[in-house]
Amino acid sequence: MQMSAKTSSSTAITMSQIVLPYNANLAGNMHGGEVMKIMDSAAGAVAARHCLTNVVTASVTQLSFIEPVFVGDLVICNAQLIYTGRTSMEIFVDVKAEDLGKGIIRCVSEGYFVMVSLDRNGHPSEVPPLQIENEQQQIIFDEAKRRIAQMKQQKRESSRIAPLK
Ligand SMILES: CC(C)(COP(=O)(O)OP(=O)(O)OC[C@H]1O[C@@H](n2cnc3c(N)ncnc32)[C@H](O)[C@@H]1OP(=O)(O)O)[C@@H](O)C(=O)NCCC(=O)NCCS
Repeated sequence: MQMSAKTSSSTAITMSQIVLPYNANLAGNMHGGEVMKIMDSAAGAVAARHCLTNVVTASVTQLSFIEPVFVGDLVICNAQLIYTGRTSMEIFVDVKAEDLGKGIIRCVSEGYFVMVSLDRNGHPSEVPPLQIENEQQQIIFDEAKRRIAQMKQQKRESSRIAPLK
């Protein structure tokens, strides 16, 4: 059955939270794992909105921590769908941190999350296609397609190498 395409803007989300002491180390920096957790949750929510099924994270690529985040900052996480395959979707997530005392907003992290849609039996299931709305989205889609094909190729090659005993 042909599923109807959905736009990226119809599923994009923004999630925000204040960084509390238990999110941070003794120096007051937010743990990288905590940043990743909010990014993963945002990517999962976008994927679920797109395909209306249970979704799991298959991989995370090009995740970078650009600047530190501190206790008291407002973390603002934007996530949007950029690519759909047959059963997988790629979501770009970027994180900003706002110093609420000074009103300064910094870009602190970004990454690409591949999420897979699962049916009720836990098997990968087809996702609706992404409806491309403009030229820039098409360029980003094509880049993602190339990156994912490259990743699959690398995976195939590395699986041919026997593990060390
Ligand atoms: C992700 C998972 C469902 C894929 O299962 P699988 O048996 O490899 O399924 P398939 O080979 O049919 O692949 C399904 C899709 O996932 C993609 N995929 C599988 N492994 C991937 C990986 N490591 N990175 C990126 N994409 C991946 C495939 O390319 C395919 O996409 P497509 O249909 O759009 O072409 C399975 O590996 C899994 O359950 N992993 C654990 C997920 C998890 O627990 N995440 C953390 C908590 S949410």
